[in-house]
Amino acid sequence: MTGDTSTWQQYINRGLAELDIPSVPAMLYEPIRYMLTLGGKRIRPLLTLMAADLFSIPDIRQAVPAALAVELFHNFSLVHDDIMDQAPLRRGKQTVHEKWNANVAILSGDNLLIMAYQQLAKCPADKLPAILETFNTVATQVCEGQQLDMDFEASSTVSIADYLHMIQLKTSVLLGGALKIGAILGNASEPDAEHIYDFGVNVGIAFQLQDDLLDVYGDPEQFGKQRGGDILANKKTYLLLSALDAADVETRSILHKWMETHDQPEKKINEITAAYNDLGIRQTTESAKQSYATQAYTALDKISCGKNRKIPLQTMAQYLLDRST
Ligand code: IPE
Ligand code: IPE
Ligand code: MG
Ligand code: MG
Ligand code: MG
Repeated sequence: MTGDTSTWQQYINRGLAELDIPSVPAMLYEPIRYMLTLGGKRIRPLLTLMAADLFSIPDIRQAVPAALAVELFHNFSLVHDDIMDQAPLRRGKQTVHEKWNANVAILSGDNLLIMAYQQLAKCPADKLPAILETFNTVATQVCEGQQLDMDFEASSTVSIADYLHMIQLKTSVLLGGALKIGAILGNASEPDAEHIYDFGVNVGIAFQLQDDLLDVYGDPEQFGKQRGGDILANKKTYLLLSALDAADVETRSILHKWMETHDQPEKKINEITAAYNDLGIRQTTESAKQSYATQAYTALDKISCGKNRKIPLQTMAQYLLDRST
């Protein structure tokens, strides 16, 4: 290994802090500065650097612009996601559309996406076509996943397979893509780039399952998002779909009744959570999460480099699946 996680985090944080963000128009750039200073775990850019290091990048700093691009894209998707999900809180603070308004969030989100491409343009020229191919494929898939997520809010016929397909698109491919871009920069072979992508996609599915769990069972102080936000938005999460599957006729009709109303939000969250508790849905979701973690480790095993070099990625995956933030 040429570096360590804390050095890489410094590269990422410094890179984000040193972005040249103008001050006017303030309503365009202030929300961008706000979003980027709220922090977040910054896991995706770290994955890019970890993957580049796993293979053979001459200098890890060559991978920093691509890592920043991934984080900027992620922040763009969050600003727009919060409008779509009508979320009041992000990273423990007001969302951009709440603090300003939806128009401000749309445009500052758009500009975050442009800033991502400005970073991509700094990638080594010989790697740029492959990186753009991966980045663009992932970016379009995230939009597809986001649309399916919205479509599912209004549907009562979503299956668990539909859900898994949707989260693969909205969340997992970005983790896979972040790793694959790092692998490309690290001169990985094509099979190894695919294996690390598969590792990321499976970690990503488990990561979204954990996100769904935290939405209901997390400590809002730590998680930084509104408790029960998915329940209020009628999100077809793994928890809800598993509950509908496991419920008896009476409980299923209670769940359906709540799906049809936006009234009594507190009561809605409490009653649906009580149904989850009765049906053991937390455990069902934990087991599913574990099975995707196992698939992720199988993909990691296939990468052709020494076992010890893979430990940081394994540790990272474990952290992501056990996280409370
Ligand atoms: C939130 O991602 C969006 C999901 C895909 C669940 P993170 O949990 O990585 O958010 P930050 O960047 O750390 O705030
Ligand atoms: C996040 O899904 C996916 C994207 C932002 C692309 P969620 O809507 O579950 O993410 P959070 O919970 O708001 O972070
Ligand atoms: Mg969403
Ligand atoms: Mg959301
Ligand atoms: Mg969520």
